[in-house]
Amino acid sequence: MTARDTGELDVTSTPQWMRLLSLGVPGRIAELFDADPERAATWQVSVGDLRIDYSKHLIDSPILEALVEVAEAMGVAQWRDAMMGGELINSTEDRAVLHTALRAPKDVEVLYEGRNVVADVHAVRAQMARYAHKIRQDRKITDVVNIGIGGSDLGPAMVTDALWAYCDPQIRSHFVSNVDGSEMVRTLRDLDPERTMFIVVSKTFTTMETLINAHTARAWIVASLGVDAVPAHFAAVSTNLDAAAKFGIPAEQVFGFWDWVGGRYSVASAVGLSVMIAIGPEAFDDMCAGMHLMDRHFSEAPLASNGPVLMALIGLWYVDVMGYGAKAVLPYAREMTRFPAYLQQLDMESNGKSVRRDGQAVSVATGPVIWGEPGTNGQHAFYQLLHQGTQIVPVDFIGFAQPGYRQGPRGDVGNAIGLSDIRHDVHQDALIANMFAQAEALAFGRLRPEDPHRSFGGDRPSTMILAPALTPSVLGQLIALYEHLVFVQGVVWGINSFDQWGVELGKELAAGILEEFAHPQEVTRQDRESGRDGSTRAAIEWYLEHRLPQAVD
Ligand code: F6P
Repeated sequence: MTARDTGELDVTSTPQWMRLLSLGVPGRIAELFDADPERAATWQVSVGDLRIDYSKHLIDSPILEALVEVAEAMGVAQWRDAMMGGELINSTEDRAVLHTALRAPKDVEVLYEGRNVVADVHAVRAQMARYAHKIRQDRKITDVVNIGIGGSDLGPAMVTDALWAYCDPQIRSHFVSNVDGSEMVRTLRDLDPERTMFIVVSKTFTTMETLINAHTARAWIVASLGVDAVPAHFAAVSTNLDAAAKFGIPAEQVFGFWDWVGGRYSVASAVGLSVMIAIGPEAFDDMCAGMHLMDRHFSEAPLASNGPVLMALIGLWYVDVMGYGAKAVLPYAREMTRFPAYLQQLDMESNGKSVRRDGQAVSVATGPVIWGEPGTNGQHAFYQLLHQGTQIVPVDFIGFAQPGYRQGPRGDVGNAIGLSDIRHDVHQDALIANMFAQAEALAFGRLRPEDPHRSFGGDRPSTMILAPALTPSVLGQLIALYEHLVFVQGVVWGINSFDQWGVELGKELAAGILEEFAHPQEVTRQDRESGRDGSTRAAIEWYLEHRLPQAVD
């Protein structure tokens, strides 16, 4: 079977899906443990440094086997091989999907249109490393501002925050994404133009938010240092090299990538330049190596013991059979604060779709709503709903044995505050005890029939991902784990996980409204009334009345 053989297959028409639906839903998670004393030991998989425990789910062995059969029937292995082999599986954009080539070691060959793209990847990585070294050694630049949005922001911002203990303390990283001018003003307020550089990151170099922010940054540099200073204070990352050059950025400071890298899959490409400047080329390589480790596991392990595949299938069970439409990602590490937001783009922009590859409507629910906050903060906010609410939200817990501030090249960031022992055992023990307790309480509950308010029903499922420490490699493993999870779900649903047409209509309408804001007098009353709904029209009129007077150049 090839990937194409399942191209138009609706999962609900397969006998494997029928079989899955015919299986009874287990009553209690506790009963599953009682029935199988080996469950805790066998319902977990180790991949690299990750220990993925999937025992606390409302899933028994026949269900798990049936789910794996569904994945087989939908050609998950074939689609995976097609993706990694450079086939044009992003059919609506007629593109290959080769983010796995971004983290392949130098000696691996991945051919696309007759070229070994891994060689191209390493050439750009070397260019990035030279540039990063220069900035890290010269000590002229103290602040690096990444200007980009979506995949051109979330990946670098999340990784830089997660690996803060690895970051050069002499270089501060900033991320400006939102077109809201407050973001730029708050960032620039405390910066010295002489010591600041901007990296404009945009795959297309046409994204409105990024271009507006980049021009504001340029004006800020020009206002204090003059126009000749622009080349020294800007670098760009894009597939659109011409547009970057037109902005005035010298060719040697423009870092390319390729249309076979989706924005939300791009952090290992030049999109990660600000990360590399912050953590250094070696740690960046370690992150890529961690991703590659997961890529190999995904491509080599049998589906039934494949970490991303198992997590994907468990997710499918909840979304499609149990009707649980959301998933919470709850990392017990301050380092992972931005991880849920990063996953929101990865998962929801990839799998928030209602039509299959062939244009037919899907007949099952697709991507869940992804959300989350780090523990223990969430416990004092929304966990009430997780424990006793009427909606069941499956959870991914993520935790590390060692504290984040004990990582990094010297492993002593915690000590930098002047305490030789910042009571790491007290902090970390309390943190991890809470994570284990939450998973236990959710799964097993505690019934008090005499007091319903204090009763916990249990059977609220969770996966727990543990690793010894959050190193660059472990972060890479986690990123690739979720990328492949999303891919597997997309294959089973028969959707193209690599386009994002759903964001286009809003962009187009915004451009029209912006045009009206620029030339309100040129829009005749008739035009105004014919083209738009009354609510939007009234909002436009209201804004034009209340906005500040227009700036004059
Ligand atoms: O609006 C969606 C999107 O296209 C994302 O997929 C992408 O990551 C983001 O915009 C930014 O795009 P670009 O890197 O081309 O500026």
